[in-house]
Amino acid sequence: MRTDTPVTIHRQDYAPPAFLVDRVGLEFRLDPAATEVRARLALRRNPAAAADAPLRLDGDGLALQEARMDGTVLPPERLVFGADGSLTIADPPASGLLETLVRIAPEANTSLMGLYTSGGNFYTQCEAEGFRRITFFPDRPDVMSRYTVTIHADRLRCPVLLSNGNLVEQGGEGATHWVRWEDPHPKPSYLFALVAGDLVSVSDRFTTRSGREVALHIWVRRGDESRCGHAMDSLKRSMAWDEEVFGLEYDLDVFNIAAVSDFNMGAMENKGLNVFNTKYVLASPESATDGDWQGIETVVAHEYFHNWTGNRVTCRDWFQLSLKEGLTVFRDQEFSADMGSRAVKRIRDVRGLRAAQFPEDAGPMAHPVRPDSYIEIDNFYTPTVYQKGAEVVRLIHTRIGAAAFRRGMDLYIARNDNQAVTIEDFVRAMQDASGIDLSSFMGWYDQAGTPEIAAEDRYDPAARRYTLTLRQQTPPTRGQADKRPVPIPVAMGLLGPDGREQPTRLASENAAQSGTRTLLLEAAEQSFVFEDVPAPPVPSLLRGFSAPVRLRGVPRDRLRFLAVHDTDPFVRWESGQQYAASVMLEMVAAQQRGEALGFDAALAEAVANTLAAADADPAFAAEALVLPGEGFLADQMEIADPVAIHLVRRHLRAEIGRRCGPALRATYDALADHGPYRIDGASIGRRALRNACLAYLTAAGDTALAKAQFDAATNMTDSLAALALLADGDGPAREAALASFHARWRGDDLVLDKWFAIQAMAARPDAIAQVRALQAHPDFDLKNPNRARSLIASFAAGNPSQFHDLSGEGYRFLADAVIALDPVNGSIAARLVGPLGQWRRQSAARGALMRRELQRVLDTPDLSKGTFEKASKALL
Ligand code: ARG
Ligand code: ZN
Repeated sequence: MRTDTPVTIHRQDYAPPAFLVDRVGLEFRLDPAATEVRARLALRRNPAAAADAPLRLDGDGLALQEARMDGTVLPPERLVFGADGSLTIADPPASGLLETLVRIAPEANTSLMGLYTSGGNFYTQCEAEGFRRITFFPDRPDVMSRYTVTIHADRLRCPVLLSNGNLVEQGGEGATHWVRWEDPHPKPSYLFALVAGDLVSVSDRFTTRSGREVALHIWVRRGDESRCGHAMDSLKRSMAWDEEVFGLEYDLDVFNIAAVSDFNMGAMENKGLNVFNTKYVLASPESATDGDWQGIETVVAHEYFHNWTGNRVTCRDWFQLSLKEGLTVFRDQEFSADMGSRAVKRIRDVRGLRAAQFPEDAGPMAHPVRPDSYIEIDNFYTPTVYQKGAEVVRLIHTRIGAAAFRRGMDLYIARNDNQAVTIEDFVRAMQDASGIDLSSFMGWYDQAGTPEIAAEDRYDPAARRYTLTLRQQTPPTRGQADKRPVPIPVAMGLLGPDGREQPTRLASENAAQSGTRTLLLEAAEQSFVFEDVPAPPVPSLLRGFSAPVRLRGVPRDRLRFLAVHDTDPFVRWESGQQYAASVMLEMVAAQQRGEALGFDAALAEAVANTLAAADADPAFAAEALVLPGEGFLADQMEIADPVAIHLVRRHLRAEIGRRCGPALRATYDALADHGPYRIDGASIGRRALRNACLAYLTAAGDTALAKAQFDAATNMTDSLAALALLADGDGPAREAALASFHARWRGDDLVLDKWFAIQAMAARPDAIAQVRALQAHPDFDLKNPNRARSLIASFAAGNPSQFHDLSGEGYRFLADAVIALDPVNGSIAARLVGPLGQWRRQSAARGALMRRELQRVLDTPDLSKGTFEKASKALL
C-alpha cells in the first residue's frame, strides 16, 4: 500500500504560471550512466500572476549539482527541495538568468519518460510531464520558450545528434563532438526532444506551396532503411493535404522523424523532431499487415498535423488535452478518408470508438472529453479524449458545414498562434466564423457518458404527414448524476416502401430537399413533421454516424430493410450489424437458459447477399461480413457473459460457414492474388474480403485451407490471417505453423509481437497456461512496451472468454503482470489495469474475483500514482 494518498489536480484550480521563461539554453553531455544537463533559463515574473508567487520549478529524480542566479551561486538556504522532486528558489528576483546543473542516468530510466536509452541510443519523451525528469523547469504547457540546445557526445557512439528546430552550429575534435540546434518557434517543454546515437537516415524533400524547401529525414537503426518508404510517402501526402484542405504549411527547413523500439505510446509530435514507435514507421510487404500499413499512414499524418494543432497553438493546461488531440484525430481521420474509401474508414473508426470508448464511458473511469480532475495526467490519454474528442469536433463540422469550419480553423489559428489556449477558444472561433451559436456544444466537452437516443414515428395517410419524435438522455456517471440534453445532429433520410430515397419537406419549409438532411435534436424530446409523404416511410437515422450516441430500439424488420436499401453505406453496414447483434443477444440468453442455439436464416441470407454484391466494393463487403465483436456484444448487456457470447459467435460462424460454404469458397478462390503484391485500397479490400471468407470456411471445419494459405503466403496480411485461425484451433497444424513463423521472424521485433499476440488471443481452454508460459519465453521482455502489450493486453482485452475464466486465473495473471511492471514502467502498468475495472458488468462471482485482484494491486507497496489512480477508481 502507498503510505500517502496522491494529490488530485482540479481543473477549476488553474492559476497562471508565476514566472515565464522567455529563453532556454540547454547543454547536454551525454553519457548512458551519468548525463550532465546544464540549463539556462531567462526568467521573469508573469504580470498575470500574483506578485509574490514563489519561483517553483518542477523536477523528478534530479540530482542538482549547482545553481546560480545571474552568475552568483545560490546558497543552500535559498534552495528548497519538495517531496515531489521540485525545487523552489527563495527570494527570487523579478527577472534573471537561472542556471542549474543536474546529473541523470538515462540507461537506468525504464519508465521511458524523460531521457532514456534504447539499444544504446538516446531518446526523450516529455509529454505530458517528462521534461521535469531532464531538468528543473516550470513543466506546464502554458510556459512557452525559445530553445537553444547544445549536445556533446562521443563521436563514435553518437554520430547523429538531433533536437528541435534547425541545426545552427557544430564542431569538436578528438573523441567527442557537439552540435547546436535552435528552434525559432516558442514552445512548451513537453515538445522538447533530443535523439542521439548511431542512426542512419532515409531522406527526401518537400517544397511547400509558398516555395520553402524542406528536408525530410527518417532516422532508424542500420538495416531498417529499406522499410521507411511508406512512412516517407505518408509524410509527403500529409504535408500536401494540410496545405490543400486547411491552407497550413510547414514552418521549418527540416522535418525529422526518429523511430525507436522502446516507446510508451504510438508517436510524439515534438517540434521538428517527431519520435515514433517503430511500429508506426517500419513496414515491408513481407513483415507488415495491411492494418499496419494504414496505421502508419494515420499516425504519420496525425503527428505531422500536430505541428499546427498542438504545437503552434497549444493547450493552456492538460485538462484541455482534447483541444489538440480530438482536433488532430479528426484531421487524421479526414486525411485517411480522402486517401482511401471514406465509408470504410468511417466504419472502422466507429467500430474502434465502440470497442474502446463506449465501454470506458460506461465504466469506472468514465470522464468528460475535458476532465474535471486527475491524479496522473498520463491516465487521461484515453479513447474519450482522443476518439470521442474527434467526434465532438466532427459534430461541430457537421453543424456549421465544411466551409464555415475551414473559416473557423483559419480564425482559430490567426487568433491563437504561439499561445496556450482552451477548448472555449476553439469553439468560439467556430462560432464566430459560422455565426451559429455553439454554446450548447460545450455540454459534449463537460458531460461524461454516451447519450442514448430513441425514435418513435407516426404516419397519417389522410394528411400524408409523417411525424418523427426523437428523445435523448445521457446515463449518469460518477460525480455527474443529472445530465442536460446535448445538441445532436441527426443526419437522416426517409425511404419509401420500395426502398427508394424520398425527398423530404419539413412543415416549416417551402420546398422539398433530396438526399440526406440533418435534424438538430437539442431538447430531451423533439418532433419533426414531414409533409407530402406518400406512403409510410422507413427512417434512416444517424447516417455516417453523425453523432457518438447509442440509437436504441430500431425494430428488426427495419434493420433488415435498411441493410439492403439505404443509400448511406454506413447505415447499411450498421443495420446489418445491429440486426446480427440483436439475434446474437437473443442466442446468448438461450445459451444461458441451456436451450439449443438454433439459427436465424436471415443471417446466412445477408452473407449471401453481401457476397453477391461484393465486387462493387470488396472492402465494404469485408466489413459487412464480420459479425459484431465479443466486446461490442458484452457492452450491450447489463451483465455480460463472455463465455456464452464466445460460444454463440463461434456457433454462428461455423453455421454460416457451412450454409454459405460454396459461395464463400467461390469468393475466396476468385480473389486469389496472382499478380505482384500491391498495397492500395482496392488490393487491401480484396485481401480483407478473402480473409473474411477464410475465417468462415475455417470455422466450418476446413482447416486445410488456412494451412495452405499460411504455407503459400507471400505477404504478412495473408500469413497472419491464416496463422490466427490455425492458432485458434487444435492439432499439429497449429504447432507447426507457430514454430515455423517464429523461426522465420525471430529477428524481427515487430513481427514477434504479432506472434505473441496471436497466441494470447487464441480462445483455447489452455490460454492462461499458454500466456504464463510465453511470459517465460526467452523472447519475452516486460520492459519493452510493445512486447508487454502484445502478450498481456492482447490477452486481457482480446481474449474475453479466457480472461474471464471462472477460476479467476486470468485476473490473477493480469494483476501479477501489473504488480511486476509497475516499478519498471508505471504508465504501461496503469494502462493494463483497465480490463479489471469492468467488474460491475460481470456476474457477482467474477466481480468478486476481479475486485480481489484490484485490491491486491492496491496493497502493493510504493505503487505508482498512475496505477493507484486506475486501481482505486476501479474499486469505488
Ligand atoms: N501527443 C502524442 C500523440 O497523441 C501522445 C503522447 C502521449 N504521452 C503520454 N505520456 N501519454 O500524438
Ligand atoms: Zn496526438
